[in-house]
Amino acid sequence: MYSENFRKSLAAVEAARAKNVEMEPARMTAKQKEDLLAEFHPDYRQDQFEILQIGPNKGSKVPKELAATLQAHSRITAESVDLNAPDYDVDVLVIGGGGAGASAAIEAHEAGANVMIVTKLRIGDANTMMAEGGIQAADKPNDSPAIHFVDAFGGGHYAAKRELLAKLVCDAPEAIAWLSDLGVEFDKYEDGTMVTTHGGGTSRKRMHAAKDYSGAEIMRTLRDEVYNRQIPVVDFTSAIELILDENGKAAGAVLLNMETEELLVAKAKTVIIATGGAGRMHYQGFPTSNHYGATADGLVLGYRVGAKLLYAETLQYHPTGAAYPEQIFGALVTEKVRSLGAKLINANGEVFMHPLETRDVSAASIIRECTARDNGVDTGNGKGVWLDTPMIEIIGGEGTIMKRIPAMWRMFDKYGIDIRKEPILVFPTLHYQNGGLDITEDCMTTEVENLFVAGEAVGGIHGRNRLMGNSLLDIIVFGRSAGKNAAAKAKDTTVGALTLDHIAKFEKEIADAGIETKTVSPKLLPNYTKRADF
Ligand code: FUM
Repeated sequence: MYSENFRKSLAAVEAARAKNVEMEPARMTAKQKEDLLAEFHPDYRQDQFEILQIGPNKGSKVPKELAATLQAHSRITAESVDLNAPDYDVDVLVIGGGGAGASAAIEAHEAGANVMIVTKLRIGDANTMMAEGGIQAADKPNDSPAIHFVDAFGGGHYAAKRELLAKLVCDAPEAIAWLSDLGVEFDKYEDGTMVTTHGGGTSRKRMHAAKDYSGAEIMRTLRDEVYNRQIPVVDFTSAIELILDENGKAAGAVLLNMETEELLVAKAKTVIIATGGAGRMHYQGFPTSNHYGATADGLVLGYRVGAKLLYAETLQYHPTGAAYPEQIFGALVTEKVRSLGAKLINANGEVFMHPLETRDVSAASIIRECTARDNGVDTGNGKGVWLDTPMIEIIGGEGTIMKRIPAMWRMFDKYGIDIRKEPILVFPTLHYQNGGLDITEDCMTTEVENLFVAGEAVGGIHGRNRLMGNSLLDIIVFGRSAGKNAAAKAKDTTVGALTLDHIAKFEKEIADAGIETKTVSPKLLPNYTKRADF
């Protein structure tokens, strides 16, 4: 329910709706986008970044909060752990119970490996579960992986590692078929063909969805498959340090039971980091659409044993986080709302941009509208712009919202806002970590043998900005690939004596660089948890 404070601006939006719905806003030129990003995108605020003084990316710039957690003390010393009596001994250890981890475990199991998942919370407590809008795949006659590549390469500012992006788009149609065979209920027309829509920056309609809870539908299916295969899942247990063997290869992890605080040792022939993103680091004080456990843990684990990061300075601020009411501040308002026709409108009822520019451009444009142009709506908790959801019913016909985005309707209905009749207020929210650990095409890190990475903890697949629907895709494509390759590598691996020597080496680097810090990492939980001391 909107209070009286919003009435004047709401009236302007309503009065202009018939005109605005017909309007075809111009796309920005490349130069306009460049200038806009430089001035208004949070990635360009130089004072929010720090240069790393130690580790494989020494000399590179990362967000301040990430620098603090990367250049921090281990939670343990080598002496506090007995590596001679492992609690678990497996071929493939998967760290993380989201979509990438589950896909990796399924494929490793399929390849005959003895695989185990360890996860900080429960399997499925992950950003995958919270993904809404869909998953891209060029599987329609008017589309091709090559066109998908061009869209994603341009959207990512031509910075993606080409071989990774090529793998993403070429394996996409098969990923959809695999999910479908496992039981994912994608939206379909009566003749059985899949419903596909546009996302920001796509030149073809290739977004496959399960209404606006695509991630939940995918995650529930993957979780069922993990359980059906009886793959062991150790939940409420965090990996807090990787273990190497005497030859410098990844060979397991030290685990922390989040309830009892007991330390455990998992020995493994190969290790897959699938720990997800970093929204709960709240870079630059932004709210987030991310899951509670998204604290960049995998980046810390990898960095400390010498794995390189790529593009760790680039984050994705989803243009449309909920800006009102306060109870859902930062929650995701799926891009699909704009795909279905809702436009972004300022406080005066004016369309100020094309609704499907790429995400970085859209986020910067909203920030400009709310700051330099002073055309934002005062939400009582900052500024926001309108996303005119009733346009969807005008364009798609009555009932479109309940049919295509019912979860959005429910999210706002709880607070007395019927999005079929009234617009909603949005502002950018921290959504995705574009950067992460640097891998080769087989998903192994460039620096540490037998250490594989999949999902949001990888850097370089999308370049410096990701298109909608390419993350649900990458967790499947790279999750499956990491599982297969880690299982194959495990067959040829004999693990040497286990060591945690890297902890002391890293401590020495901290001391030699004169870094004074009390921070321990990985962070595991956000600061506002009761157990932030973990
Ligand atoms: O807007 C969305 O539904 C988000 C999708 C994504 O990040 O891929």
